[in-house]
Amino acid sequence: MARGAVTCLIIFVVICGFLNVKGQKDIILLNEDNWTDMLKDEWMVEFYAPWCPACKGLQDTWKQFAAWGIDMGIKVGQVDVTASPGLSGRFMVTALPTIFHVLNGEFRQYKGSRDKESFMSFVVEKKWQQVEPVPYWKSPNSVQMSIVSTFFKLSQTLRLIHTKLMEDFGLPTWGSYLIFAIATIILGALLGLVLVCLIDLIYPPKQPIIITTEKRKLKESDDELGDEDIKDDLLDDAEVSDQEKSKSNPSSPNARKRKSRRAD
Ligand SMILES: *[C@@H]1O[C@H](CO)[C@@H](O)[C@H](O)[C@H]1NC(C)=O
Repeated sequence: MARGAVTCLIIFVVICGFLNVKGQKDIILLNEDNWTDMLKDEWMVEFYAPWCPACKGLQDTWKQFAAWGIDMGIKVGQVDVTASPGLSGRFMVTALPTIFHVLNGEFRQYKGSRDKESFMSFVVEKKWQQVEPVPYWKSPNSVQMSIVSTFFKLSQTLRLIHTKLMEDFGLPTWGSYLIFAIATIILGALLGLVLVCLIDLIYPPKQPIIITTEKRKLKESDDELGDEDIKDDLLDDAEVSDQEKSKSNPSSPNARKRKSRRAD
């Protein structure tokens, strides 16, 4: 009797396991590295987290929908946001589970009821046409969303480091925060330095060069002035002697020459 029950139980578990494996095969798992697969063909992708009860409730339905999708040429995917935090940033996932319909790189959020029939009619009857696609400026495959995704990944990494510091090294919370604060200040200073160097490279400081050349010019003209002063002095001497000469001879050629020179 007991043996029979155990056998039944084992068979039950094996069948469940088989169904489970089959279901997992139907759902295509996507992560940070291969999410771009959904940019070709038609997809329905669910964003979920293992801890989210609503996601667990949807799981069986989603598996059945995935099995149906294979026959219909629709790909049914799943993204674990805890394993791919960058993707939740990229798709701006704010509630779980979130479902997106993707066709030719156009993203539409599915907001209908979460049962198999609704999913199927959304695809078969092309109900997605009534839904506005995600605008280009926050499209998940845009550059700016890649940046957002990077920040999400970074924040996840920082949180992991924070947890590690607290749990593995027994640091108190404030100690971890202190380390982050110091790291932030140092990083900020380094970033500022790099920025200043970059700006210097792109816009080299022209001001000091201009000043030095101007100074040199000034200096040169000073020298010239000095020379002219000396020449003037010499001329003055000559003039005096010329005037003395012209007193005696008013039609002296020297005097006329000097007058024309002044007119210049
Ligand atoms: C994406 O990568 C994950 C983890 O390596 C893998 O389990 C999944 O099958 C991959 N999906 C596709 C579509 O290649």
